[in-house]
Amino acid sequence: MAPIFKPRHFPIGGAVPTADVVGRSGAIVDLAFKLRSGQNVLMAAPRRTGKSSVAAKVMEELEEAGLLTVHLDFLKLTTLDSFAGAYFEACVSKRTAAVGLWSRLKVEKNKARAEANLVFRLGPFLEAGLKLTSSATPEEMLTLAMGLPALVAHEQKKDLVVVFDEFQDSTKLHREFLRVARPYVTATDDRVSYLFLGSQSTLLHQVFNKQSEPLFRSALSVDLPAIGDEEWIDYLRAKFEEVAISVDRRLLAQLVRRAGGHPQDTMTVAFCLYQVLYQEQRETARETDVARAVDEALGLMAAAFEQLWLDFNSERGNRIVIARLARGVPLYGGVTNSERAAIDRAMKRLLADGFIQKLGRGSYRLTEPLLADYVSDYLDVRP
Ligand SMILES: Nc1ncnc2c1ncn2[C@@H]1O[C@H](COP(=O)(O)OP(=O)(O)O)[C@@H](O)[C@H]1O
Ligand SMILES: [Mg+2]
Repeated sequence: MAPIFKPRHFPIGGAVPTADVVGRSGAIVDLAFKLRSGQNVLMAAPRRTGKSSVAAKVMEELEEAGLLTVHLDFLKLTTLDSFAGAYFEACVSKRTAAVGLWSRLKVEKNKARAEANLVFRLGPFLEAGLKLTSSATPEEMLTLAMGLPALVAHEQKKDLVVVFDEFQDSTKLHREFLRVARPYVTATDDRVSYLFLGSQSTLLHQVFNKQSEPLFRSALSVDLPAIGDEEWIDYLRAKFEEVAISVDRRLLAQLVRRAGGHPQDTMTVAFCLYQVLYQEQRETARETDVARAVDEALGLMAAAFEQLWLDFNSERGNRIVIARLARGVPLYGGVTNSERAAIDRAMKRLLADGFIQKLGRGSYRLTEPLLADYVSDYLDVRP
């Protein structure tokens, strides 16, 4: 049988459908339990490592258990007004299909009172929404918005979990976001708990663990565990079988090793392998196909890696560490004293942020082997 075409068969970019969440079942159960128990949780990890995917699965489980969930992505919200609108619609949609209600409310202002249908659909949110759309200051708008989830939890008599995704960007909406949010986040009598996700681990851990910060000790930190090689191999084998392609376990193990089991990188290499085999109408993968798929994947990920490299570029130590680990060059060979200090600082931060891993005493590697391939093969850097 020839390979079959299926759209979005290896999903890449953003949260995957819950059926495609590989591994991490322990972490998902743990998160769901803590959130159901009313605990706030922080999960910080680099971009493209699967935070939003895990959160989507947790939200599905919570909804199945009868809780309400609301998800906001701060990367997509560029103004306080768009935050208030998205939050409003997400909360209102728990009682009625909410499309467009926010903009109608903004246009109608107090005339909304006259409109029976709007009054009916918005219920207690009519008053909240009218206040929100006419708030006098940004701080008032933020305060009113933060009160919305408690309103819906109270009205629906259900516990509610708010997911604040890419939370490090919240202060771009309002400098005092964290201070204003504090009473809502720390309230224990409002049936609302929060899952904070974000990609700048050092910064986020400071926000929740530094005594001078408004959200000090307001959330438990949990790690995002790695996905096991066997879990990847089982998933990929079944996925390839679904499209009538046979890839033996030894080749799949090779694929997973080349991508380091990194969530997005592994999925991207698998997608590229699928494309190669489908386009050549071959139903059995060969060893050379994996190498080809890795090359294709590096091309697809060049833009993401370039951005990562630019981010690293802001600190000289980062660049030295990444380039040297990528090429397998001794970290401290031939460096000046000031470079040594910069390397030490960079190591600490890169470890904390999850970009590098410690293998043994004095031995480290990049968490993403494909990033190492990219840096050593494509970038012209002197380590
Ligand atoms: N548990 C997982 N199983 C399979 N693929 C995953 C998993 N988590 C992430 N991915 C892959 O990585 C991509 C990015 O995941 P995402 O959840 O958006 O990461 P983050 O929120 O950390 O940026 C997904 O589109 C998918 O290709
Ligand atoms: Mg995400």
